[in-house]
Amino acid sequence: MILRLSALKAARNAWGGKQDKRQQNEDSPMRQMTIIGFMQAQNCTTLPSSWRHPQSRTDSMSVGYYQEIARILEAGKFHMAFFDDRLAMPDRYGNDHAHAVEYGIRCVKMDPIVVLTAMATVTENLGLAATGSTTYFEPFDLARRFATLDLMTGGRVGWNVVTSVNDGEALNMGKDEHLAHDLRYDRADEFMEVVLGHWDTWEDGALIVDKARGHFADPAKVRRLDHQGRFFRSRGPFTVPRSPQGHPVIIQAGASGRGQRFAGRWAEVIFTPFPTRAMVREGYTGYDAARREAAQAGRDPDQVLICKLTTPVCAATKSEAEDKMALIQKLSLEIDALSLLAEGLNFDFGAKPIDEPLTTAELQSMQGMIPIRDMVVKASGKANPSTRDFLTYGDRSKPFDAIVGGPKEVADELEELFVGRACDGFVIAATHVPGSYADFVEYVVPELQRRGLFHQDYSGKTLRENLGLQRPAAGAWKPEPRVAAE
Ligand SMILES: Cc1cc2nc3c(=O)[nH]c(=O)nc-3n(C[C@H](O)[C@H](O)[C@H](O)COP(=O)(O)O)c2cc1C
Repeated sequence: MILRLSALKAARNAWGGKQDKRQQNEDSPMRQMTIIGFMQAQNCTTLPSSWRHPQSRTDSMSVGYYQEIARILEAGKFHMAFFDDRLAMPDRYGNDHAHAVEYGIRCVKMDPIVVLTAMATVTENLGLAATGSTTYFEPFDLARRFATLDLMTGGRVGWNVVTSVNDGEALNMGKDEHLAHDLRYDRADEFMEVVLGHWDTWEDGALIVDKARGHFADPAKVRRLDHQGRFFRSRGPFTVPRSPQGHPVIIQAGASGRGQRFAGRWAEVIFTPFPTRAMVREGYTGYDAARREAAQAGRDPDQVLICKLTTPVCAATKSEAEDKMALIQKLSLEIDALSLLAEGLNFDFGAKPIDEPLTTAELQSMQGMIPIRDMVVKASGKANPSTRDFLTYGDRSKPFDAIVGGPKEVADELEELFVGRACDGFVIAATHVPGSYADFVEYVVPELQRRGLFHQDYSGKTLRENLGLQRPAAGAWKPEPRVAAE
C-alpha cells in the first residue's frame, strides 16, 4: 500500500501545475462534493463475492485491515468512513443460515463502533460514521456509545439512523418478529428525541477540571432529561459531555414516504441509492423532494447533504477498468443474490418456484427495503413478478449503479450528477478491499480536485466543519416553536 499512496502523491503533484479556472480562485465559495467511503465490518463488501476477489485481503476480522482502509480514505481526503450494520446474518432464504456461512454471504458482521475506534487511532481528520438501530437498542445506550467516540475523536462521528430490516434481527434481539413499518418510524421519532435530548444535557463549558479548587464540573450545567413517552423512559443525567462538534452528525437512509419524512425532520446527511444514472437520464432526481421535506420540517435544506450510493470501478484507462469489471461480474453466484433479496425484503424467496409469479399478498407482505420491490415491479412491467424477475431487476449481489472507466470517464459521470443536482456527493461502495478505495483515491480523486469539484484538504477539525454543517445549539432539533434547553 505504501507504493499506492506514493503513486497517489506523485499523481497529485503532476496535476498540481495544471489547475483549471474553477480551482484558481481558492476563496470562491464553489460548491464541492462530499465523498464518503461505504464500509462493512464484515467478511466482504456489500458484494458477497468480494471475499473471493483475487486482490481482496483475507484478514477482514483484523484491526490492521480497517486501519489500512482508514489511511487510504484519509489520504484521499474522504469526508468519512461510513459503516452499514445488520443485527443478523442473512438467513431468510430457506429460513436457514447454512448457505450464508458456506458461501460467505455477509455471515461475519462485527460491531462497527468498535471497528471505528480502531480506525480513529490512525487518522486525524477522517469522519467516522456507523449505523445504529432505533428498533433494537435503548436510546441511552446508543447515545452514550456514539457520544463517547465523538468526544474521544474531537468531534468526528456520525450516526446513521435505521429502523432495521428483518425478522432475523428481531429474533436475535428478543422479539418474535420485526415491528410494523410505520410503527418503527413512530418509535424512531421518539428515540431521536431521547438521544438528542440526552446529548443536550451537558452544556458547553460544563467541564472545569480545576485541581486546585477541587471542582471537576459545574452542576448548574448538567441536568437530567427525565423523558417519559409512548415508547421510552429515560431519566439521566447523561454521562458523556458534549463534543467539540456538539453531537454526532445525523445520517439517514429511509426510502419510503414515511422514511423520507423522518429524514426531512432529522437527517443532516441523506444516504440514498437513488437516483440511478438511468433514472437521471429519464429526468428524475428526487433531490428537490428531499430538500422540500427538510423545509417542511422547519429546517434549512442547505444543511442537508444528499449523498448517492455509487460503485466506481476505475483504473488508469477505460479498457483496464472494463477488464476489472469483467472479473468482478464473474465472481458473483445466484445464491448471493437470492440470499440478499430474502434478507433485504424479509421474504423467503426459497419457498416459491423461481418462475412462479408472486401473489399480490406475498408482495405486500414484504418488509425492509421496499423500494427494491417497487423497482422490480416497475422495471419488469409486471404487477406480479417472479423470483427470477427479482434476480434480473433487483440483484443486490452485483455492483450497484457501477461507473466503469479511467479517471476522466468516472469524474465526468460524477461531475454530471453533482452539477446537475442529482446529489451533493457520493457514497463509494467497494467491489473488493482495499483495492477499490485505493483505485478511487489514485485515479479519480486527483481528477475531481483538478476540476475544483472536491476539496484539496480538510478545512476543519470536526466532521461538521468538514461537511459545512453548523454546530447545533442545544435544543435546535426541536420543532418550532423552538425552546432553548432549560
Ligand atoms: C442506501 C440504504 C442503506 C441502508 N443501510 C441500512 C443498514 O446498514 N442497516 C439497516 O438496518 N438498514 C439499512 N437501511 C434500511 C433503512 O434505513 C430503513 O430502516 C429501511 O429501509 C426501512 O425504511 P424505508 O421503508 O423508509 O426504506 C438502508 C436503506 C438504504 C436505502
